[in-house]
Amino acid sequence: MNAPHVPFDPFAGQGPAGRTHPHLDELREQHPAFRSTVGHGFWVLTRYDDILAALQDPETFSSRAIAVIDPNPGYQWIPVMLDPPLHTTWRRLLRPFFTPTAAAVLRDRITRHCVALIDDLTPRNECDFVADFARLYPTTMFLELIGLPAERLLEFLAWEYAILHPPPSGAGRGEAMAALTACFTELIEDRRARPQEDLISAATSFAVDGRPVTDDELLQLCILLFLAGLDTVTAQLSYVFWHLARHDADRARITGDPDDIPDAIEELLRVYSIVLPARKLTRDVVLHGCPMKAGDMVMLPLAMATRDPRAVPAASAVELDRPPTRHLAFGAGPHRCLGAHLARLELQIALREWHARIPDYRITPGAQPREHASLVLGLDTLPLSW
Ligand code: HEM
Repeated sequence: MNAPHVPFDPFAGQGPAGRTHPHLDELREQHPAFRSTVGHGFWVLTRYDDILAALQDPETFSSRAIAVIDPNPGYQWIPVMLDPPLHTTWRRLLRPFFTPTAAAVLRDRITRHCVALIDDLTPRNECDFVADFARLYPTTMFLELIGLPAERLLEFLAWEYAILHPPPSGAGRGEAMAALTACFTELIEDRRARPQEDLISAATSFAVDGRPVTDDELLQLCILLFLAGLDTVTAQLSYVFWHLARHDADRARITGDPDDIPDAIEELLRVYSIVLPARKLTRDVVLHGCPMKAGDMVMLPLAMATRDPRAVPAASAVELDRPPTRHLAFGAGPHRCLGAHLARLELQIALREWHARIPDYRITPGAQPREHASLVLGLDTLPLSW
C-alpha cells in the first residue's frame, strides 16, 4: 500500500477564525496517517489511539526535536527536549513548583491581576480580546512566576510577539531572542548571587545527576517556560471566548452557575486543543502502511486526537453536559504539561471574573476574527463588544 501524501501545511498563515480544527477533522477522516509534502516532509498521525501511544513511547518517538520544520535543532529546551532518563531527573526537580498546591498559592495574585485588567476594560464596552486581555494576563503571571517585576510587562510582550508571531520574513525575531536571552542571563546571575523566593532562585541550587546545574541549563529552562506558558494560555483563552461569544446558551450557563466553569473548561480544552507536538523517530516503524524511517519527524496534532469520534461521541461538538473525557489537550506520557494546574487555574479565574463583570458580549458586528495555524493554534484578533 502506498503512503498517502498530502500538502498539509501547519504554517499556512492567517485566515478566518474557525477553519483549522474542521480541516484537521477532515484529514483524520481521510487518513489514519499520512505524509505531509511541506518543507522537508513529515509524517502525521491523526487518531486518538495512535497519538496517545506515540506520546507514551519516548524510546521510539524522541523529543530531541519537537518542531517538524527543525529536525536537527542546535538547542535543547529543558525539560521538553530531553528524553528519559535525564528528562525524569528534571521532572523530579521541577515537580514541586507545579503541584496543585503550588498553583493555588498564586490564586489571589492571579485574581488581582485578572480583575484589574477586566475593570479597565469594562467601561470601554468593546475591546480586541486577544490584544487587550489574553496576551497581557498570562504574561503578567509569568513575570510573577520567574520573579521579574511587573513593570517589565511591555518589554516582554514585545519580545513574545516578535519571537512567536514574526512576519513571514522573520524580521525582528533574532533580535528579540537575543534580548530575551540577555535578560534571562542577567536574571540567572542575579539569583545565583542574591536568591529570592522564586522558581529560578530555587533552580540555581538544583543538582542534576550529582553535579550542580549549569547556567546554560537554567537558560534553556527559562526559555522553555517562556515559550510554554505564555502563548498557550493566550491562544486557549482566545478560542474559549470565541466560542462563548457565539454560543449564548453556553455563556448563560457558566454565567448563571460559575461552579460549572471547571468542567466547561475541560470540554473547551478538548474541542479547541491548540498544540501540535512532534517527535523524531529513533527506529523504523510501519503505521497504517506508512513506512516511517529512523530520523523522520512525526507530528501528533492533539486536536486530531481529542476530536476523534472513535474516542468520544460527536467529538467535534461542545457539549457542556458531557461526562469527563480523557482528553489530550495537555499532552500525555512523560512530557504531559507541567503547567497544567497553573493553566487550569488561570483559565478558571479568567472565566469567573470576566463573566461576573461582563456576562453578555458578542463578536463586534462586521468584525472578522482571525486565526493562525502554527505549532500552537490561536486567534490573532477577537473583537468583542458588550
Ligand atoms: C492552556 C494552556 C496550556 C496548554 C494547552 C499546554 C499544553 C502543553 C502540551 C500539549 C505539552 C506537551 C508538549 C509535548 O509533548 O511535546 C506541554 C508541555 C509543557 N508545558 Fe504546557 N500548556 C499550557 C500552559 C502551560 C503553562 C501555564 C506552563 C507553565 C509555565 C506550562 C509549562 C509546560 C512545560 C514546562 C512543559 C514541558 C513538560 C515536559 O517536557 O516534561 N504550560 N504543555
